Amino acid sequence: MKFLGSMKNVDGVLEIGGISVKKLKEDFGTPLYIYDLELLQKKIRDIKNSFKSEKFNTTVVYASKAYLSKGMAQVINREGLHIDAVSAGELYTILSSGFPSKRVHMHGNNKSLEELNMCVEREIGSIILDNRFEAEKVAQICKRVGKKMDVMLRLNIGIDAHTHEYIKTAKHTSKFGESIFDKEIENIVKDIVEKKELNFLGFHCHIGSQIFDELAFCEGVKTMVQFTKKVSEKLDIKIPEINIGGGFGVRYTEEDTDADLKKMMKKIIISLEENLLAENLSVENVIIEPGRSIVAAAGSTLYTVGGEKKTFGGEKYVFIDGGMTDNIRPALYSAKYESVVANRLNESKKELVTIAGKCCESGDIIAKNTKLGKCSEGDLVLVSCTGAYGHSMSSNYNKALTPAVVFVKDGKSYLVSKRESYEDLIKNDFDLIESI
Ligand SMILES: Cc1ncc(COP(=O)(O)O)c(C=O)c1O
Repeated sequence: MKFLGSMKNVDGVLEIGGISVKKLKEDFGTPLYIYDLELLQKKIRDIKNSFKSEKFNTTVVYASKAYLSKGMAQVINREGLHIDAVSAGELYTILSSGFPSKRVHMHGNNKSLEELNMCVEREIGSIILDNRFEAEKVAQICKRVGKKMDVMLRLNIGIDAHTHEYIKTAKHTSKFGESIFDKEIENIVKDIVEKKELNFLGFHCHIGSQIFDELAFCEGVKTMVQFTKKVSEKLDIKIPEINIGGGFGVRYTEEDTDADLKKMMKKIIISLEENLLAENLSVENVIIEPGRSIVAAAGSTLYTVGGEKKTFGGEKYVFIDGGMTDNIRPALYSAKYESVVANRLNESKKELVTIAGKCCESGDIIAKNTKLGKCSEGDLVLVSCTGAYGHSMSSNYNKALTPAVVFVKDGKSYLVSKRESYEDLIKNDFDLIESI
């Protein structure tokens, strides 16, 4: 396993943020989500400082779906970033953390009236409209409460990029956004622009996730700039902003490129500057929405080994006290991770094992055929790079308790979310005995 951020081997025991994993287990139990605060801050600053241009302003919006808690929102706020939400729940969490509402932006392909009302009432920064119908809903709400809302329109620009490849004009079937190929698209924009309750800021796109190919982003930039130019000329309006979404790739295992985030940001800036120059277009602000690239590497999950099993078929399992309930990604889309026996770092002997969780589901696997040092009951296994879409996609399947989240830095630990209790599991349940 590649050591990330502040990870250190101290006498065979892994330390993160200056605290040994043994101590973290003692204090908070396992499974445990551990976030290396220094690495998190470094990722934020790397992106913020390298996504800069002399030709236009830039805004970095953290995509909170990657991982959100009040503590996380407070870190993002302190670093001066903006943040987005895709549900009332995310919005509520963000606003409860004291995050300034003007730096909050709302996404979603099917925002409810409750969600839209919340956005308008709490005067958030902007709503990214998904479609032609949403504009009318927002305008109606604004009219009723006498407010005006900044909006963008999400576009499907026909570029589908994932991991190392991108395909042009491949995804006309996505549920997100309005297509730039739709013959009504200019009328849709005109309709938004003409609504006096809305202030149209520009177009948004998001071409995929875990993208390593800079060319995919450059292709996206080119399409967005050309489309912005075309519409601004056709409708004779000034369009001040362009939002090119998130999706910047992260190294999970040695199979992935070790993406240089700063380099990627600079390449995208150059592409923006060149395309704006080529189209003779000026915009005031360009926005990106990184999620994974900010938070994935900073997070790891610590588990306690319950035992091992060698099956009749020859598969060697290491059983851990968590699983698909705290990290669904391997089961959901065969995501791969690196791991280590965190209390026996100096033991060099490794074997091929499958790390399996404790859920009643054969697919409950955290890492298949992965190299792991010898371990047995009571040992600690750490899975690295679980900071994005781990906690945020966790579930209570088999009534698993959502693990605690702890941030660590300079030898200090900060409990950000406590472990769920058994009472939490039934707090919304009513007894039916009387009524049946
Ligand atoms: C609209 C939008 N922006 C940003 C993101 C963040 O993507 P990532 O975490 O891959 O950077 C997503 C992810 O689904 C998204 O849908």
